[in-house]
Parts: sequence; C-alpha cells; structure tokens
Amino acid sequence: MKKLTFLPIAFLIALSVLLIDACSKKASSNPTPTTGATLYDSLGGTVLVTDPTHSGAMIEKGRLAIRNVIDSTIFVIAADSKINGHFTVLLAEVTKGDLSGFTDLSENLTTFVAGATGAKDYIYIGLNMTDAHNPATNPRMNGKATSADFDAFVNDLVAGANKNKVPANLINSIGKIVQTLRGQVVQK
Ligand code: HEM
Repeated sequence: MKKLTFLPIAFLIALSVLLIDACSKKASSNPTPTTGATLYDSLGGTVLVTDPTHSGAMIEKGRLAIRNVIDSTIFVIAADSKINGHFTVLLAEVTKGDLSGFTDLSENLTTFVAGATGAKDYIYIGLNMTDAHNPATNPRMNGKATSADFDAFVNDLVAGANKNKVPANLINSIGKIVQTLRGQVVQK
C-alpha cells in the first residue's frame, strides 16, 4: 500500500476551508461524565441539544459528542502517513472539494459507535465491519488492514477523543469496545 504525504495536506486545507463555517458555529460539547446506565449516557445520552452544524436541527448530546470525536479522528487519520494510504478515495474527493464521502463516513462511523456505546435512537445501516474493510466489498477501502494499521487507527481515535476533552475513563471504555472489532477489521 502506497503511503501518502502531500495529498493529506491538500485534504486538510480543503476540509478546513469547507468546514470553516460549521466549525465556527461548533458549540462546546465536551461530554460530562454522569452515572448513566450506558457508555452512551456517560457521553451525554439522549438529551436533545441544538446541532451546531445543522441550522435548526436538534441532536442527542451523546451523538454530538461522538460525532465531534469521529470528525476530529478523520482529520487525524488524514494526516497520519501510517494509515492514510487506505483512505485514498476519500482524500481525493475532499481535495477536489467534494465532501459527500466525508459526510457519509462521519454519519456512518458516528452511528456505528453510538450504537456500540448503547444508543437506541439511531440505527446503523452501513456495511458490516468485515465487508466495510474488505476492498472487494468496499472499493473505498484501499488495501486490507494489518494489525499495525489497527493500532494506528486506535491511536488516532484516542487523539480525536483527547482533542474533544473526553475523560480518560470514557476513552478507555470506547477503546475496549473498539478492540473487540480487531478480528473483523484486520484482514491481512
Ligand atoms: C474498530 C475500528 C474500526 C471501526 C469501528 C471502523 C468503522 C468503519 C465504518 C462504520 C465504516 C463505514 C462503512 C460504510 O460506509 O458502510 C468504515 C469505513 C472505512 N474504514 Fe473503518 N473502522 C475501523 C478501523 C479501520 C482501520 C484500522 C482502517 C484502516 C487503516 C479503516 C479504514 C476504513 C476505510 C478506508 C473506510 C472507507 C472510508 C470511506 O468511505 O471513504 N477502518 N469503517
């Protein structure tokens, strides 16, 4: 798999410009730990808040916290030469100013993680984890992932969570869930 260096820089510039308005409106959504029954509750749960990036829409606080982490993580991955070569389709699109794939990935990953942490109000309808990470069933996946790729992904996810000031105990809990998926994602 070819490593990328220049494309991610263009990607980051393009994405920053395209999201600048949304980011400027982004409210602080640092999740407040609570004694909720599920991890999703601890991340903010089902309390509805205004969606800072969709004018007039409401969003569950837990979903917003997760989406902020996912969006930050996609930025981190885009700049991470250890694994960004798997994301060539996405990077090329965003560099051209096409955010459709980014939006779909953000939505799908957010819904997947929300469900995995206990959300009940969002249903994941994307590919299962095996098909999503097999280039034969998902042409957006450039090459199969190794265990080292998976480790890099987890590090980037932790970096994305830290950027959003998710408390360490909750990052640890998310990490445990993510580790259960290693066998489906790693196919090389
Ligand atoms: C437990 C860890 C992971 C989870 C939960 C996860 C989850 C997902 C989900 C939900 C999708 C969207 C599927 C769809 O569109 O139907 C996706 C796509 C993808 N994943 Fe993962 N993933 C993980 C790890 C990895 C790793 C380690 C890599 C490679 C380094 C990777 C590379 C990709 C790529 C390239 C795509 C397609 C992106 C695009 O749409 O442009 N993922 N993943």
